[in-house]
Amino acid sequence: MNILILGSGGREHTLAWKIKQSPKCENIFVAPGNGGTGKVATNLDLSIKDFDTVSAAIKEHQIDLLVVGPEEPLVNGIVDFLSKDKDLKKLKIIGPTSAGAMLEGSKEFAKDFMNRHNIPTAKAKIITAENLEEGDQFLDRMQPPFVLKADGLAGGKGVIITEELPDAKMALRELLVEKKFGKASERVLIEEFLNGIEVSFFVLTDGKDFRVLPEAKDYKRIYEDDKGPNTGGMGAVSPVIFADRSFKEKVTRKIIKPTIKGLQKEKIDYCGFIFFGLINVGGEPYVIEYNARMGDPETQVVLPRVKTDFLELLIATADGNLIDMDIEYERYSAATVVLVSRGYPEFYEQGHEISIGNTRMVLPFHAGTTIKEKKLVTSGGRVMALTGLGKNLAESLGKCYSCVEEVNWEGKKYRSDIGFDLKNIGQ
Ligand code: AMP
Ligand code: GLY
Repeated sequence: MNILILGSGGREHTLAWKIKQSPKCENIFVAPGNGGTGKVATNLDLSIKDFDTVSAAIKEHQIDLLVVGPEEPLVNGIVDFLSKDKDLKKLKIIGPTSAGAMLEGSKEFAKDFMNRHNIPTAKAKIITAENLEEGDQFLDRMQPPFVLKADGLAGGKGVIITEELPDAKMALRELLVEKKFGKASERVLIEEFLNGIEVSFFVLTDGKDFRVLPEAKDYKRIYEDDKGPNTGGMGAVSPVIFADRSFKEKVTRKIIKPTIKGLQKEKIDYCGFIFFGLINVGGEPYVIEYNARMGDPETQVVLPRVKTDFLELLIATADGNLIDMDIEYERYSAATVVLVSRGYPEFYEQGHEISIGNTRMVLPFHAGTTIKEKKLVTSGGRVMALTGLGKNLAESLGKCYSCVEEVNWEGKKYRSDIGFDLKNIGQ
């Protein structure tokens, strides 16, 4: 079977690495890929925003299965586009249509969807430039911290949390009046703050059935102790100790099942991953966000823990036969530490040559790397994720941190406390 993965991050490197292990995998391509994917797959140098070019590449390389990594092409309708092509009738696709991707593409849609299907989530109100004053009044009645969310895709930067009421009102204006994220912030959700610890769940669904992948916790802030601005993710661990059997049962019953049923009821065909960003509030799970794809860097800890042939799982998903597949997990723990460029998540440097020493203790997944004049150089904010596997969290983290100084470039940064909060509660 020939496989094409769209995207260029650590998530896509991990997907390629995992899929390649299946005996069913013949040829594997990543578009556009990065300096690491080029080692396990063939990189195709094309823009995934250009759906015609993607379609031509699928035909040229006789692709049987397409996996769409990031959210943007999904929200922009790549699956709808390819599904209409008569010559691609046999193409298997992992990724929802744009209607399904609205779970991620519009926070207002997601909130209304959860309310329609009684899925636990924070209470919220939608505000536009026209009813700004109503927004102010709503904030006046709330307790801090205040949570504001741009409705549309904002590259992971669309959520603002502030302690002070005047800051919240100012942020509301920045989003709606100054249109900080353009069209994406023409509508803003003001949301109740949920006090608890975060955990992410992932499922593969064919629209009828679903299989739950290992859960993960990611570390979004740039600095230790969860300080500083949000990033795409500075590290992740799996499993997550507080997500015990009873919590998982609640997540399945109160969140995952009603979500899949809700999609069916609303006649939204959904074939692919759903990422549930949850907060555990006193043992009860609440949804803070849906994503229509796998997480990055969560994929770097989730996939190594899947024991079942991952390509077979994807094929069953695309064919609507997930009911016939069981999913087994590996028993070990996984942790990943992301190495980033100086300046990230704001303006960051690029083009520094990367030297890699002894990384045999970890799985080194590439993100913002590229080959330039035969040298591996940095080309993004998040450059590499080092995943350690061990019998427990301490061992997997120990492996990550024993290798972080083996990968170097000018201005490399990382968080030195990934997983430490969970270690303290005994994982
Ligand atoms: P998101 O971009 O939706 O993942 O949100 C970014 C981060 O904001 C989340 O990872 C949470 O840490 C935080 N967050 C979002 N919504 C809430 C909420 N209602 N209560 C508390 N924290 C939240
Ligand atoms: N790590 C969070 C995300 O992929 O959205």
